[in-house]
Amino acid sequence: MKTRTIRALRCSATLVAAGLLLTACGSTGGSGSGQQAGSTSFEGRGPITYVAGKDATGVVQKVIDRWNKLHPEEKVTFVQLPTDADSQRQQMIQNAETKSDAYTVLSLDVVWTSEFAAHQWIDRLPEKQFPLRSMLKPVVETAKYRGDLYAAPASSDGGLLYYRTDLLKKAGIAEPPGTWAEMTADCAKVKKLPEAEGMSCYAGQFQKYEGLTVNFAEAVNSAGGVVTDADGKPDVDTPEARKGLDFLARSVRNGTIPKEAVTYQEEDGRQAFQFGKLIFLRNWPYVYALAEKGQLAGKFAVAPLPGLNGPGSSSLGGHNLALSSTAKNKATALDFMKFFSSEDSASTFLKDASLAPPYAALYDEPSLVKRYPYLPVLKQSVLRAVPRPRVVQYGDVTSAVQQEAYAALTGGKSSAQALKDLQGALQKSTAQ
Ligand code: GLC
Repeated sequence: MKTRTIRALRCSATLVAAGLLLTACGSTGGSGSGQQAGSTSFEGRGPITYVAGKDATGVVQKVIDRWNKLHPEEKVTFVQLPTDADSQRQQMIQNAETKSDAYTVLSLDVVWTSEFAAHQWIDRLPEKQFPLRSMLKPVVETAKYRGDLYAAPASSDGGLLYYRTDLLKKAGIAEPPGTWAEMTADCAKVKKLPEAEGMSCYAGQFQKYEGLTVNFAEAVNSAGGVVTDADGKPDVDTPEARKGLDFLARSVRNGTIPKEAVTYQEEDGRQAFQFGKLIFLRNWPYVYALAEKGQLAGKFAVAPLPGLNGPGSSSLGGHNLALSSTAKNKATALDFMKFFSSEDSASTFLKDASLAPPYAALYDEPSLVKRYPYLPVLKQSVLRAVPRPRVVQYGDVTSAVQQEAYAALTGGKSSAQALKDLQGALQKSTAQ
């Protein structure tokens, strides 16, 4: 089938079932005003649920409590799913496939919008009812599918390099590293200090799950490669991508990345860093507020991710609020989504839990910058972040990436072979 024909058909659910890649679908322009979007009428008031990964910070319940106080007849119950993105996705899909009304508002990872929208597991939203113009553009894009809004941006995410300011200073290093080579050289210096005995240099998220897709893509992008090209076609079997994957694989082999880091998700790395096991850590902004409260208070800072020949680039992360199409009480849900994604709520999420806001102005507000001096760095990181492939078959894409990247990291395959196999697998899963 020709791309043009696919566009004309507006990528219906039938095409999805046929397994077609929908990045080829053109934008048809947004719509959605009033209380209706598409065929959805937002009717019914009463109790609903908010469904998200386990909250390590406690701030989610705090904001929900605010809502519940104001809306005693329309209470929101927080349903906490496992911490890893893949399990969250599976449970949300199961809810949709069984047409259950147990989940109302979903905290949807930015990479799932196309898949959930194309399968009509979530409802199109009335765009004009959300203050999208005050938000960072790349963040808003993550909430759209074929030009229409399917989710309300709630929090963004950009990768940051956490580092031990106390140890770098003691080792005579004035600036955080801008390249991978500088980072490893800094580690060699720091490790000579008696305080750094037994410490490892660097970790990110290298377990076989969504976090590995993020870290793999960042390594590839930070070495000048891409996972998919500007047209959404896989282009990962390149010398640049190989330099990126080689950096990770070599680092595991030579101990720059400790062996146990191939079992790390976000929280494992955070704990290792906070307990003084790591000099450098790649993680998301949420770690900042938690680490500030622990034994590392005053001993760490964040910098942009390093890359091969200069600053690296982050994968674009984050979560948006989507409305399960099989849910009840959609009028309540829509109001709650507006409340939970408002600038006021984003400001609480930032103040209490250092979550990256979708709202541009919060990154420049003097009182917030005073509290979180890295906010301007984070804003740039989010603005320049590279989205992961925007495809309906995201589940297949990410599992192929995870499998091949993990094989390269754990010595099962050379980087060259892993990338060759990945290119083949991606071509297959995105073939039209
Ligand atoms: C964070 C990001 C999300 C990403 C996940 C991977 O939650 O916000 O986009 O997929 O980490 O572990």
